[in-house]
Amino acid sequence: MAENRNNILDRYTPGARLNHWINAILMICLVLSGMSLFHPSLFFLSDLFGGGVWTRIIHPWIGLLAMLSFLGLFIRFVRFNLWTRDDTAWMRNIKHVLAADEARVPEAGKYNAGQKLVFWFMCVLTILLLFSGLALWDSQFGHLTTIEQKRLAAVVHSLSAVILISVVIVHVYAAIWVRGTIRGMTRGSVTGGWAWRHHRKWLREEVDKPHKPA
Ligand code: HEM
Repeated sequence: MAENRNNILDRYTPGARLNHWINAILMICLVLSGMSLFHPSLFFLSDLFGGGVWTRIIHPWIGLLAMLSFLGLFIRFVRFNLWTRDDTAWMRNIKHVLAADEARVPEAGKYNAGQKLVFWFMCVLTILLLFSGLALWDSQFGHLTTIEQKRLAAVVHSLSAVILISVVIVHVYAAIWVRGTIRGMTRGSVTGGWAWRHHRKWLREEVDKPHKPA
C-alpha cells in the first residue's frame, strides 16, 4: 500500500536489515541444534538437521556463521550503543517507561538504555559462546584443550546460551511491545510519531541532517 512519505523516517538500510535477519535465522538454527545436543529429552530436534551425527557436525559451523553475522551487526551499530549519563538516568527511571510515560525519562537517541544493555549483553555472551564453543569443538581443536578445560567450557557454553536465549526473548518481546518498531527492521522505516514518542533525540538529529540511515 502506498504511504505518505512526509511522516516517515528511514531507520535501516537494506544491508542492515539483511544482516539482521540472516543473524536471526542463524541464531534460531543455532538454538534448535544446540538444544538437541543439550539434553536427551530435546534430542528429537536433531531430526531437523538430519539426525544426531549431522547436528553435531553442523552446529559449530552454524555458530561460526552466526558469530560472523553478529560481527556485522556489531560494526554497524556499536557507535549508537555507547553509554551516556542520560542512559544511567533513563535506567534509574525505567518504571516510567514501563508505565508508558516516556516523557519522564531523558530523550533517547537511536537506542534507549534498555536496548543498549541488550546489545552489550549480546556482545559479551557471543564472545563467551565463541571461545567456549571452540574449546568444545573436538574434531577441529580437540588436541589443544585438556579435559578440565573442556568441562569448564561446557558449563560456560550452556550458561551463556541460556542467558543469550533469555536476552533475545526480551529483545523480541520489546520489539513487539513498542508498537511500530518491527516495521523499522522489515520495511526499513518508522513513523515520525513513533520516533517522537520513543527516540526523540534521534528524531531531532535526523531532521537536522541530510538523510542517510545506518
Ligand atoms: C527473530 C526475532 C527477532 C526480531 C523480531 C527482532 C527485531 C528487531 C527490531 C524490530 C529491531 C529494531 C529496533 C529499533 O530500531 O529500535 C532489532 C534490532 C537489533 N537486533 Fe533484532 N530481532 C530478532 C532477533 C535478533 C537476534 C537473534 C539478534 C542477535 C543475537 C538480534 C540483534 C539485534 C541488534 C544488534 C539490533 C540493533 C539494536 C542495537 O544495536 O541496540 N536480533 N531487532
